[in-house]
Amino acid sequence: MAPNTLTLLLLLSSFLPFSFAQTPAAPPPSSDTCNGIYLTYTYTSGKKLHPILKTASKQPFSFKSTLTILNNDEVELKSWRAYVGFQHNEILVSASNAVVSDGDTLPAVVGKDGAILAGYPQVDLKTGIQTAGDSEQMTAKVEFSGTQFGVASPSVPLPSNITLVNDGYVCPLPTKAGNVTLNTCCARDPKFKAKMTITDDFLPRKNGDLTIMYDVTKSYTGSYWAQVTMANHNPLGRLDYWKLSWNWMQGEFIVDMKGAYPDVVDANDCISGPQAAQYTGLDWSTVLNCQRRPTLVDLPPQYANDTLLGKIPYCCRNGTILPQGMDESKSVSAFLMHVNKMPPQMNQSLIDPPQNWQIKGILNPNYKCGPPVRVSPSEFPSPTGLPINTTVFASWQVVCNITKPKNAAPKCCVSFSSYFNDSIVPCKTCACGCPTSTGKTCSTTAPAMFLPPEAQLLPFDNRTKLSVAWARLNHRSIPNPLPCSDNCGVSINWHLFTDFNKGWSARVTIFNWEETVFADWFVAAEMKNAAAGFQKAYSFNGTVMGETNTTIFMQGIEGLNYLMGETNGTRPIDPRVPGKQQSVLSFTKKLTPGIRVAERDGFPTKFYFNGEECSLPSIIPINSAYKKGPLTIISVLIAALVLVFIQ
Ligand SMILES: *[C@@H]1O[C@H](CO)[C@@H](O)[C@H](O)[C@H]1NC(C)=O
Ligand SMILES: *[C@@H]1O[C@H](CO)[C@@H](O)[C@H](O)[C@H]1NC(C)=O
Ligand SMILES: *[C@@H]1O[C@H](CO)[C@@H](O)[C@H](O)[C@H]1NC(C)=O
Ligand SMILES: *[C@@H]1O[C@H](CO)[C@@H](O)[C@H](O)[C@H]1NC(C)=O
Ligand SMILES: *[C@@H]1O[C@H](CO)[C@@H](O)[C@H](O)[C@H]1NC(C)=O
Ligand SMILES: *[C@@H]1O[C@H](CO)[C@@H](O)[C@H](O)[C@H]1NC(C)=O
Ligand SMILES: *[C@@H]1O[C@H](CO)[C@@H](O)[C@H](O)[C@H]1NC(C)=O
Ligand SMILES: *[C@@H]1O[C@H](CO)[C@@H](O)[C@H](O)[C@H]1NC(C)=O
Ligand SMILES: *[C@@H]1O[C@H](CO)[C@@H](O)[C@H](O)[C@H]1NC(C)=O
Ligand SMILES: *[C@@H]1O[C@H](CO)[C@@H](O)[C@H](O)[C@H]1NC(C)=O
Ligand SMILES: *[C@@H]1O[C@H](CO)[C@@H](O)[C@H](O)[C@H]1NC(C)=O
Ligand SMILES: *[C@@H]1O[C@H](CO)[C@@H](O)[C@H](O)[C@H]1NC(C)=O
Repeated sequence: MAPNTLTLLLLLSSFLPFSFAQTPAAPPPSSDTCNGIYLTYTYTSGKKLHPILKTASKQPFSFKSTLTILNNDEVELKSWRAYVGFQHNEILVSASNAVVSDGDTLPAVVGKDGAILAGYPQVDLKTGIQTAGDSEQMTAKVEFSGTQFGVASPSVPLPSNITLVNDGYVCPLPTKAGNVTLNTCCARDPKFKAKMTITDDFLPRKNGDLTIMYDVTKSYTGSYWAQVTMANHNPLGRLDYWKLSWNWMQGEFIVDMKGAYPDVVDANDCISGPQAAQYTGLDWSTVLNCQRRPTLVDLPPQYANDTLLGKIPYCCRNGTILPQGMDESKSVSAFLMHVNKMPPQMNQSLIDPPQNWQIKGILNPNYKCGPPVRVSPSEFPSPTGLPINTTVFASWQVVCNITKPKNAAPKCCVSFSSYFNDSIVPCKTCACGCPTSTGKTCSTTAPAMFLPPEAQLLPFDNRTKLSVAWARLNHRSIPNPLPCSDNCGVSINWHLFTDFNKGWSARVTIFNWEETVFADWFVAAEMKNAAAGFQKAYSFNGTVMGETNTTIFMQGIEGLNYLMGETNGTRPIDPRVPGKQQSVLSFTKKLTPGIRVAERDGFPTKFYFNGEECSLPSIIPINSAYKKGPLTIISVLIAALVLVFIQ
């Protein structure tokens, strides 16, 4: 290097900050240079856990780490939510000052998809301007402890990604600072500005598949009344016998309810806990529930007018929530609840909504719920009957979206059949999962055996004889051991019924193999190339829906809107009989020129029962004799002749 270049470099470096001169790599964003929301994830410690394993990738280690979120912006960050892309099969055991935002309670497995965390109890992060730079109020510091697998020292199990999830922020990919820290500085998205109202005290309400409002209608010292309202917004979303649960964060307990009930009435946790000392005069025999995580269920319809337990609009329907398109008045469920609080929360203005919300139904889609977010107080029509609204004391909104957990088995399945093929292509083996302890009496991998038409009316266990004989008759191989059952509570047979020049038809049969009765059931079939030609369902009420008009939505018409459960046969030796609903659907070909009904277009590409997506067979019946085109008069004649000759 020429001497004058060297002096220049020396000269330059003496002007540069010391740290920069030592690590000439690009400087990570520091909290000082960040004018937005600054996120830092730091791994602090970890050690090898027992058992000590030979497979390094399966070895468990504990870890401790910290996530800090600092608001350096000029706008308050309301209800912060941050994503941490855990990637080493982590099991999160504790997280201070935060809750896992999809409703899970800890410990939770987060190492596959990462975790979204939401602030608790400190939900909002104030600005330096508001607080004269009080870092306590500007920062959320989450301390994690958990278990990870396979990352041994000196390697450090860092997440793949950290970002702020709040609407209207963009975060660059985090950068590594040293070996143990990830940083990123998130900025408000200028494109989003229009929608963010900086001066508003509350976040806007959000959309989702199911929204739950937690409206505090009355608040007193030490207790309050909350109205919980669940509203379905997804055209295929649905709940039956819903069960709602959450965690009380401050020792609250439910004294009384109207319109719903805890699944366990039990005040023992209070009597043996601090609540008994606080509420000495209380008659504990009338307290409904003291569980930290109560589960609430809807009341049956006969309580709708009960002055003690019911009389709440939208209550008391056995926990049924339907799509709006089916019945708007049944797309909402609501109940009222009297909650007693514990010190130090006794002040009338202190209300801490419960966290970790979860809602489940029977044979329904899976919902994942976010944390309660403070929104502007809801308005209800005045109980006085005056044409004015009364505003509630405070409102929170929980948004739940339908999710499809990886590897989750469907709960219903479809079989295919056709007029030109005697064999039914049955539901897949283990379509709805197989019990882990099958005792190896059946094969979980062998493809399901084709069925003769009469076999589909029988419970799986009683089909064996028929399906084996059918396979022999058709010279098909018989797996040994025989394939396992589909294990589905509900199965549907889609039968291609006719196919002629101007149109075609299909017959849909729904079988219920469980004892649950499905009131107001619905099914939906996605038919990309055929739905446009849909004309009519004869015993169902069928309509074409969906953003692209490719889904046929069907519900029972009045009187046929109950799908009964499986019942005993008439004689004790008869097999059990499934609950059944059936209709023929007719289609015209005028609106779908070129449709290839038999080849594929006449079978659904997706099928839903009560919002739950069903398993479909991977093959369709084929017509080995007449592969080309629809049935013509000549082919019918030939078929008839062949039949005559066979007989
Ligand atoms: C980081 O996470 C955010 C939010 O989940 C996501 O939008 C982004 O694509 C992720 N980045 C990478 C590189 O995975
Ligand atoms: C970072 O890790 C490398 C090897 O993994 C190690 O040599 C180095 O000392 C570590 N640096 C710090 C600051 O821990
Ligand atoms: C409740 O009262 C309403 C109106 O009076 C009536 O229409 C409804 O049938 C009653 N429901 C029950 C379960 O008694
Ligand atoms: C409500 O549920 C009970 C059992 O949980 C059932 O016996 C009853 O028939 C249901 N009522 C309606 C209207 O679905
Ligand atoms: C069919 O369903 C639609 C939408 O739910 C409804 O408006 C219509 O009245 C129903 N028709 C019959 C015959 O039940
Ligand atoms: C309750 O809280 C409010 C606001 O935080 C405060 O003004 C009030 O004095 C408190 N009341 C009692 C009884 O502590
Ligand atoms: C639910 O979906 C909506 C959009 O459909 C989205 O804005 C919202 O963030 C989602 N909520 C959760 C908790 O995933
Ligand atoms: C009352 O609130 C409802 C929404 O809950 C709104 O549609 C209606 O316009 C309000 N009425 C008045 C008088 O403000
Ligand atoms: C049907 O299967 C069940 C369960 O394996 C069995 O108990 C019953 O006897 C069978 N019934 C007939 C008629 O085969
Ligand atoms: C779906 O059908 C409705 C009613 O027939 C129509 O208004 C709408 O434009 C259609 N949408 C598409 C994407 O074809
Ligand atoms: C159905 O049959 C089983 C035994 O086969 C019997 O225990 C049960 O009571 C029967 N149920 C009804 C409703 O008859
Ligand atoms: C019926 O359909 C199945 C499934 O596609 C096929 O394997 C079989 O050969 C067909 N049988 C006849 C007689 O076409």
